[in-house]
Amino acid sequence: MSASLKAYQGSSGYIVSDELSNSVNIAISLKKPLLIKGEPGTGKTMLAQSIAESLAMDLIIWNIKSTTKAQEGLYLYDTVQRLYDSQFGESDVSNIKKYIKLGKLGESFGASKQVVLLIDEIDKADLEFPNDLLWELDQMSFYIPETKETITANQRPIVIITSNAEKELPDAFLRRCIFHYIAFPDPDTMESIISVHHPKLERKLLEQAMETFYMLRNIPDIQKKPSTSELIDWLQALVVGGISPSKIKKELPFLGVLLKKNEDLDVLLNQLQGKGNARNSNVLGRFR
Ligand SMILES: Nc1ncnc2c1ncn2[C@@H]1O[C@H](COP(=O)(O)OP(=O)(O)OP(=O)(O)O)[C@@H](O)[C@H]1O
Ligand SMILES: [Mg+2]
Repeated sequence: MSASLKAYQGSSGYIVSDELSNSVNIAISLKKPLLIKGEPGTGKTMLAQSIAESLAMDLIIWNIKSTTKAQEGLYLYDTVQRLYDSQFGESDVSNIKKYIKLGKLGESFGASKQVVLLIDEIDKADLEFPNDLLWELDQMSFYIPETKETITANQRPIVIITSNAEKELPDAFLRRCIFHYIAFPDPDTMESIISVHHPKLERKLLEQAMETFYMLRNIPDIQKKPSTSELIDWLQALVVGGISPSKIKKELPFLGVLLKKNEDLDVLLNQLQGKGNARNSNVLGRFR
């Protein structure tokens, strides 16, 4: 890796594994987009924020929706405004440049300094979307026929692309990316992540909550397993609610912060009932 490269090593609010920071640094030095997959809540979106913060760069976020088209990321030509101005305005409408608005990709190319570009949740769009961006992401350049202008990146942005794997991405697209899967954090890593968000947590409360959390995640039939962000919220609820650590396993307070599906609550309650778990009679009573 080039010595001049400002290597990314995580940031104060974001815990990063060595493998992940290596992937980031390799993607930067190979000048390729970094494609990040992983369960919801495993810090995919936050990674881009952390890179931007740690390398002191601006972050441009392109949130992808089911209706997003690749063209929107490049530029939009506001023909309606131009027509309006031609009929009712006093300004000169012959200058088409005034009606060209750069999209997020265009903005990142036009930035005067190198930026981090996050293309968040690329799998939300249709299958053509990633293919339609191949050339622009390779060349870091695109042509605007209306103004006969070519927009070329002053400095190649660091491109982070996230996916929840709702759809498979095309091979041609995958070939051009560096790929990293963020594995679900083991308990030690999870403790480090939690300490970033709740630095002053009582030890006993943390232990009891962590045990309960991993117990829930390990129930095989749970469809929507609680994630890192849900554990962070749950700990907050336990603290705010003044819950004593000894009650956590017995009463499973604020369960709705962790389990969001009726079916999953049923699975848990059946499991507790099946075990004839008298300790959990409070939980059963609350939900039956
Ligand atoms: N490694 C980490 N270090 C610190 N906080 C983390 C980490 N991973 C997750 N978090 C916490 O979890 C929250 C969720 O992270 P984030 O939104 O980046 O997840 P995501 O993978 O993008 O989820 P989704 O797929 O639902 O969009 C963050 O706001 C942060 O509080
Ligand atoms: Mg996200």
